[in-house]
Amino acid sequence: MTELSRLLEAKLKQRQEENSLRKLTNTSGLVDFTSNDYLGLARSEELFQRINEQLKTLPQTNGASGSRLLSGNSQYIEQVEQKLATIFKSEAALIFNSGYAANQGVLACIPRKGDTIIYDELVHACIRDGIRLSFAKHFSFKHNDLSDLEKKLKRSTGSLFIAVESIYSMDGDECPLQELVALAKRYNAHIILDEAHSTGVIGPDGAGMAVSQGIEQQIAIRIYTFGKAMGCHGACVAGSKTLIDYLINFARPFIFTTAMPNHNAAAIDCSFQFLKSNIDLQNTLQQKINLFVSLGKEMKLNTLNSNTQIQGVVLPGNNRVKTASEKLRSKGFDIRPILSPTVPKGSERLRICLHTFNSDEEIRNLISELAIIE
Ligand SMILES: Cc1ncc(COP(=O)(O)O)c(C=O)c1O
Repeated sequence: MTELSRLLEAKLKQRQEENSLRKLTNTSGLVDFTSNDYLGLARSEELFQRINEQLKTLPQTNGASGSRLLSGNSQYIEQVEQKLATIFKSEAALIFNSGYAANQGVLACIPRKGDTIIYDELVHACIRDGIRLSFAKHFSFKHNDLSDLEKKLKRSTGSLFIAVESIYSMDGDECPLQELVALAKRYNAHIILDEAHSTGVIGPDGAGMAVSQGIEQQIAIRIYTFGKAMGCHGACVAGSKTLIDYLINFARPFIFTTAMPNHNAAAIDCSFQFLKSNIDLQNTLQQKINLFVSLGKEMKLNTLNSNTQIQGVVLPGNNRVKTASEKLRSKGFDIRPILSPTVPKGSERLRICLHTFNSDEEIRNLISELAIIE
């Protein structure tokens, strides 16, 4: 064994001992209570056909062949960006290859030395990674706690940035966006809003939380991702034309990477068109959420305080939550355990994602199993 293998093995062994070793798994045949395909678009045959039809109308290319700033740009991707800007009611939009790249790019290049980033303690890893790359000062505030945020705003210097999510990926709860906008205004702070889990799920044409509340113009930087409810892949940043020009010049995950191929841009384009003509999917999802939440209350489950498609049942301890997820798997449900340190010790949980395609019977059966799980 080489020196390097020994070092890596030791780290893996430590994870194994803590019962937190990650492994790739395949789960075909199980009832999906795990994926981010909230509206069923990733599995929609009709959407698949529409994307194929759309591709026939585009120049026949297999790959973009370079970064957007070199050979990778196309009229089509620019058209898709214009359509996204219309949906998200922004002056402009810029596509990134993933939400990870978009968040990391924004956080790393916009707040500068002397500025301050204050972020909700539960923001996603890609926001944290972007912050680590930034030269700005940074600290977190207690989850959704605006009085803690205000304390931190008072001792911040330079241009101020507040990074939040509209729906939190592990807890499923929502950001108090209107109050946050009012607070940010008082301190002249800029909001960076990640709409990963609200894109598609809420708002007209799936435009997310800020647009659905009519406060999108008060949020300087919005990030929307397409790999979740939109059922495809990629992301965009929406905001002013100046913001987009700045990102084209300074966001390294945009500049130094091969552009998304037309296949992918077509999937984004068609997926929003599909949602527009099937907007009732949002109501269907809400009905599933209501059913899960009311049954969970009835059965006195230790659920998270969430009214969104991301639900959870807290079962403290990595061992306990892992065993519970295996038990549910043996009953035909695909539900993943969320272990510490991904979530704080003591709040380990089964993360349950609800979908339009989960039948009421599947939800009832799941609740019955959860009620007897130890
Ligand atoms: C809140 C949040 N932001 C960003 C991302 C990253 O998006 P993508 O999967 O498109 O890279 C995720 C993915 O899990 C997320 O949950």
